[in-house]
Amino acid sequence: MRRPMVAGNWKMHGTRASVAELIGGLNQQALPADVDIAVFPVSVHLGQVVEGLSGAVVSIGAQDCAVETGQGALTGEVSSEQLLDVGCKLVLIGHSERRLILGDSEEQIVRKFAAAQVAGLVPVLCVGETLEQREAGETLAVVERQLDSVIDALGVAVLSSAVVAYEPVWAIGTGLTASPEQAQDVHAAIRARIAGKDADVAGALRILYGGSVKAANAADLFGMPDIDGGLVGGASLNADEFGAICRAAG
Ligand code: G3H
Repeated sequence: MRRPMVAGNWKMHGTRASVAELIGGLNQQALPADVDIAVFPVSVHLGQVVEGLSGAVVSIGAQDCAVETGQGALTGEVSSEQLLDVGCKLVLIGHSERRLILGDSEEQIVRKFAAAQVAGLVPVLCVGETLEQREAGETLAVVERQLDSVIDALGVAVLSSAVVAYEPVWAIGTGLTASPEQAQDVHAAIRARIAGKDADVAGALRILYGGSVKAANAADLFGMPDIDGGLVGGASLNADEFGAICRAAG
């Protein structure tokens, strides 16, 4: 059995004051013990969140990491080792906003994934198609290409200490959620693709769904056999809503 996971990606939201309020709200939630829960604040708030959630069962992750490891001359970047040092356990890799708006290439994504694992962080590899790609019937080809970039470069075994998040770009922040069946189809295809290379890795891999997950649709999505939890954006900024989503995964 795969242990469910619910992750909250706070994206570029928050001030010290609003983050303090969100931490307070999360600390009051009855969070399920049988679900791995994580939040991903902006990097300047990581220390505050690590400290504020220290008594909670919530793990902290970063939204991105440098392609280089350790320390060095790379202005503006934060390495996986530095993220680990401030208390992070996970890092998002290849979120569609980074791929499409900030220009992260497949090569950079592979390097970031590898750098995260070298440091001991768990990478959460995000994959997903745009609306145009879905309408052109390219969903599986796109998702498989994104997965294969990492597998071909680093080997399928790297997925045994990673998480994959399927996030159809057309469902992110739009209020349009993939139906549980639509999401399940892609999750099953992802798992089958990986099973073709290593059945044990595929069987143990957690594949999260992301794209307008909220308390009202979480249980239906998480009830599908290959959906192991969610990567939640907007709804993770409300502690009560996020708590309810976490409970739906338990
Ligand atoms: O990382 C989270 C996803 O981009 C989903 O965002 O829940 O606001 O649609 P959303």
